[in-house]
Amino acid sequence: MSHMFIPGPVDVDPEVLQAQTNPMIPHRSAEFDAFFRGTEAKLKQVFLTETRVFQPPSSGSGMQEAAIRNLVHKDVLSCVNGAFSKRWYDVAVGNGKQADRLDATWGEAITPDMLAKALKNKAYEAVSIVHNETSTGVESPIKELAEVVREVSPETLVLIDAVSSLGGVKVETDAWGLDFVLTSSQKCLALPPGMSFAAVSDRAMKKAESVENRGWYFDLLIMEKHRIKNTTAMTPTMSIIWALDVQLDRMLAEGLENRYARHQAMAHRVQSWAFENGMEPLAKEGYRSPTVSTIKNLRGVDIGALNEFLLTKGMRIANGYGDLKNKTFRIAHMGETQMHHIDELLEAFEAFIKTM
Ligand SMILES: Cc1ncc(COP(=O)(O)O)c(C=O)c1O
Repeated sequence: MSHMFIPGPVDVDPEVLQAQTNPMIPHRSAEFDAFFRGTEAKLKQVFLTETRVFQPPSSGSGMQEAAIRNLVHKDVLSCVNGAFSKRWYDVAVGNGKQADRLDATWGEAITPDMLAKALKNKAYEAVSIVHNETSTGVESPIKELAEVVREVSPETLVLIDAVSSLGGVKVETDAWGLDFVLTSSQKCLALPPGMSFAAVSDRAMKKAESVENRGWYFDLLIMEKHRIKNTTAMTPTMSIIWALDVQLDRMLAEGLENRYARHQAMAHRVQSWAFENGMEPLAKEGYRSPTVSTIKNLRGVDIGALNEFLLTKGMRIANGYGDLKNKTFRIAHMGETQMHHIDELLEAFEAFIKTM
């Protein structure tokens, strides 16, 4: 199988893939409930929360929608600095909310100063922030951003998309006071796509009680009613849940701190390599993602031809996103990717540059 350096879906370990072939069982059974309770307990360790983690069948975008539908009557501040934070804004508008945009140029982070200023202008019920913009390789400082929300507007709920960071970068849900942290299965958790996870604070659950038109599929109160009974309202993604259990054991055995350090070391290696080879990351120092490096294509590399060459060696990278296509390229270093994979990729990349 080719090793993929694309930012999701990422390679899944064969043992984890294999777990999906376990037989189906009734989802309304004590056997399933015990299993589901076990995966939630392990997820709480990864989300660094003692409160709750939902495990619904949906991709991450569904949880963006759940956050908006359940936690916002009317006013939300949508921080937009790339494609996925823009999607969250679109979700808010599409659900009839009054969403104000706080924009940063693609390639830049959302900073505490700009957030403080926006929060002083208007009382928002919630603020949505993407921790790691997968489209640009920018990490926003969510601990500091959450601190600013608490100082300037303590009633405002802090909604965080950690789709391309959670499991690869430390996200301290409880300690940082985050009210809603969502992620998808197919990124740093290195599982097949199709499942999402969300840690939700008690005060967010309380807020949901007062919000009308929460729908049904993503109604947090319905999810909670079933979570307490260790199940889901709808049929769960059983095969992925079998895989999830094995993968969480592998992650906890590696050690979360070791896992974060591995991601950071791979990011450092790729980003220093870019400088050494006459290129540079799009993001400024201090905001460079530990899980996906977006590199300015200053050598004019033909990304399509590069990928054809890499595929002959069983590897592939991602082109830049949207308007950044061909102007940048992205090398993901998330999930189960190891430093030796990065070394092999960069060696092949250099060999390609020599042929240009
Ligand atoms: C930061 C971020 N948020 C949200 C999404 C959407 O997630 P999903 O494709 O699981 O719906 C993605 C997908 O790449 C993402 O990178």
